[in-house]
Amino acid sequence: MKLFTNLGNSSSLKVLIAAKFAGKNVDLEVVKVDDERFQKPRRLPVFEVDTHEHIFSTNATCNFLLPCKPELSADVNFWFDWEAVQLQPTLVRCIGSKFDNQQLMKLFSVLDGILEKQSYLVKDNSLTVCDISVWSTVYPVLTDAKISGSFISKYKNVNDWFQRLMELPHFKDALSVFNVGEGVSCLQSIASAGWFPSITVQEVSEKSPTHQSSATSLTSDVSGNIKPATDAELKEVKESWNRNVPIKPKPAVSPVLPVAGERNVLVTSALPYVNNVPHLGNIIGCVLSADVFARYCRLRNWNTLYISGTDEYGTATETKALEEGLTPKQICDKYYEIHKAIYEWFNIQFDHFGRTTTPQQTELVQEFFNVIHKNGYTSTQKVEQLLCENCDRFLADRFVEGTCPKCSYDDARGDQCDGCGHLINATELIKPKCKVCQSTPVIRMSEHFFIELPKVEKEVESWFSEICEGWSYNAQVICKSWLKEGLKSRCITRDLKWGIPVPLPGFEQKVFYVWFDAPIGYLSMTKCYTDNWRSWWEYDEQKQVNLYQFMAKDNVPFHSIMFPSSLIAAGKKYNMVKHLMATEYLNYEDGKFSKSRGIGVFGTDAKETGIPSDVFRFYLLFVRPESQDSSFSWIDLATKNNSELLNNLGNFINRALVFVEKFFDSIVPEMKMTQDDYTLLVYIKREVSEYMNSLDRGKLRDGIRHILSVSRHGNQYMQSTKPWFLVKGSQEDKERAGTIVGLCCNISCLLTIMLKPYMPQTVEIIRQQLNLASELYVLTNDITMFIKPGHKIGKPVPLFTKIEQSLVDDLKKRFAGKQQESDAKNNKGSKSKSKNTTSSQKKQSTVLNVVPSNDLCIAKLEEAIAKQGNLIREMKASGQTKSEWQPHVNVLLDMKKQLEEMKASVPSVSELEDKIAKQGDIVRQLKASGVPRSEWQPQVNILLNLKKQLVDAQQAKYD
Ligand code: MF3
Ligand code: ZN
Repeated sequence: MKLFTNLGNSSSLKVLIAAKFAGKNVDLEVVKVDDERFQKPRRLPVFEVDTHEHIFSTNATCNFLLPCKPELSADVNFWFDWEAVQLQPTLVRCIGSKFDNQQLMKLFSVLDGILEKQSYLVKDNSLTVCDISVWSTVYPVLTDAKISGSFISKYKNVNDWFQRLMELPHFKDALSVFNVGEGVSCLQSIASAGWFPSITVQEVSEKSPTHQSSATSLTSDVSGNIKPATDAELKEVKESWNRNVPIKPKPAVSPVLPVAGERNVLVTSALPYVNNVPHLGNIIGCVLSADVFARYCRLRNWNTLYISGTDEYGTATETKALEEGLTPKQICDKYYEIHKAIYEWFNIQFDHFGRTTTPQQTELVQEFFNVIHKNGYTSTQKVEQLLCENCDRFLADRFVEGTCPKCSYDDARGDQCDGCGHLINATELIKPKCKVCQSTPVIRMSEHFFIELPKVEKEVESWFSEICEGWSYNAQVICKSWLKEGLKSRCITRDLKWGIPVPLPGFEQKVFYVWFDAPIGYLSMTKCYTDNWRSWWEYDEQKQVNLYQFMAKDNVPFHSIMFPSSLIAAGKKYNMVKHLMATEYLNYEDGKFSKSRGIGVFGTDAKETGIPSDVFRFYLLFVRPESQDSSFSWIDLATKNNSELLNNLGNFINRALVFVEKFFDSIVPEMKMTQDDYTLLVYIKREVSEYMNSLDRGKLRDGIRHILSVSRHGNQYMQSTKPWFLVKGSQEDKERAGTIVGLCCNISCLLTIMLKPYMPQTVEIIRQQLNLASELYVLTNDITMFIKPGHKIGKPVPLFTKIEQSLVDDLKKRFAGKQQESDAKNNKGSKSKSKNTTSSQKKQSTVLNVVPSNDLCIAKLEEAIAKQGNLIREMKASGQTKSEWQPHVNVLLDMKKQLEEMKASVPSVSELEDKIAKQGDIVRQLKASGVPRSEWQPQVNILLNLKKQLVDAQQAKYD
């Protein structure tokens, strides 16, 4: 018995190992790939039983040498098939590209899952021949110096099993008999030995530029198991290409209104809080996702309205105002502009970007409340609350501290004790203190309004079960868990100043809870856009509106339960959310975005990186946390930019255009379409259909993948047809080259349409290079000729720039955390700038988030801790399991530790001096403006506090 193999072919290992286990002698002959004995078909390794009998399948050979017990054969055969049909081909397809593709990951996960439960593939306690087979196939990956690391960390069980087997004598023996080397180069040997025709064909045609082979190479070239084009598909594209004309979009109207008998889409994005600079995770969670979707709807010629704006009321704004020494109104004005500028830079195309602090909002919110109240969906309850008489304000939980009633820890917060972790009521605190002025608050009864959710529960439930299918999965789960828990009445008023006043006598001092007013902002902002706003929000049988709401998952309860309940309680039939699209969270590198620690990229930073906003858009959508948390990573961004944008998409378009410029005088040539060309169109048409399918369902990540597949098809088509050879050949060859590049120009045009939702600026540039109007044709899955022969194109210029490792390193460092960043900037700053910065410079420095002062950081961290605490409470309340909330608790503990550290460090004298000067200005201004004492006293208190700190800091300096 003899095994013929080519050098380095790790498939041969299977046979050798099986022979060792069987105790059979197998001779080995290493031959050349093109040894003529093995060309019909070309296939190595080959097992020779005797001169007349050969076995081509390595799994069959293994089975022949080492037959398994009959009772195991079904299982063993399953793994043989899996190995031969899935694992091996998938691996071979990875050659030359990436090994971290989804398909391969899926297969490894399957394997890992099995090996987590048992020690071997089929039976827990014994090795079978299919272990040998699969082992040999994963060998190239798990021994590869470059890529094994990520597999080992992800698939620990596979690796344990792999290493365990490698230690067995028979495995060692086989490896010493036939040294295949290590790493994925073994796969190259497998591929070149003819098991996988797609690879060989490409290699062969690479050397001989004949074009008769293009039909076969086109179908087999294309990565993976592509289904051949059917006659019906071919007929369809032929017809549409030759007969149909692209559809022009309908003229833009303003305002956009729903139209009877047409598809009307209302898109909203959660209204970002105005008290912070949004980070990339916030941006992809709401405004950017909604933008891509709205742009897609416009491409489909649907009547589309995209509304968003800032969410401005509430305690968080008040806190921020205290922190920055501004009034809440000033904070809102300032941050509204910051948000607006950021979204402009990202090219978010709102039809209207409004605010919640408008007269329209106040009027609508009060109107809603009055109706809900009149309809009997409210109740009132007296609640005990702490009032600081000195500050003249009721204290929100986060504004109180004191001694914990449970464990006597003396630094407990108003909502939770850091000592024992108990959730507490601020009124239960022993020796409570106002956090702002340190005086002792008094307990007062305060009467509040509640919305009676139990009264609408049934209706919410039946509405939900009717429409939930169109929601993202996480949104469905969250909403279901709330419904399962049962709805309880919720307090919708607060004793705050910054909010919309409750319009009832006796309640003048109270405002609405921010989550009651904010969603009504969607309506009031529409009202600011058009007087006809009701046609978007009130149900009209004739003019149906599809409402799509985009948000991160922490917003789901408010949009799936609270807001719909308000709408139901208001009695009229409103257009309620039909597609609630919630994302999971985006992490930054290995951790979380953290404003207080300066970790991660915030909206204002993105611009400073020099990377175009389209590339950010592309990457954020590529990693959009659609079904699980995902991460933003610089190296990944660079890789995607360099491989997908530059080498795939950009390369395809640029090649096609340069070719037309160079060889056809920039004139799109005549296209005489062949079967190959139509086949290509069939493949592309499939991608377009899938693209539309994905986007219709809000699967924005997948949309990108289909775009990239189109250009990949285009590249492969060029690669296999080689117009650069043809153009130098006979007249006929030259015409053929013309057809090929003419077709590629058309595909480029199609790409501009598909790409528009994701990379609008790039599309403009491509359209200029194609010399086409920037107005796009309507997206349909009909393949038509967009660019006719004779059209003169513009000047092709490369579309993307390579992102170098050095930039990646630089950016990673720059956004890794405040410590490094502020050190770097401090050094720079002290050298180049005098201390007397102008006010505009000062303003800019806050906008850019340079060197936040210590107490600012503390406040921010405290805010973050409060938010995290809320999140955990919500999770617990919504019945999530410990395994779900525990990671968040860990984060919380981590944040608290940091806070301690920060508090321990003394702020610098100069920082305090600056701050005191600024605070002094504020107090003077406030007093001069004649506002009552209650307004300026808190600011005075802050000033006094700062002065005390300064004394401490000065002393510390001399200690
Ligand atoms: N401001 C909230 C947040 O950023 C979202 C409000 S969405 C709305 O989480 F429904 F209230 F408008
Ligand atoms: Zn106080």
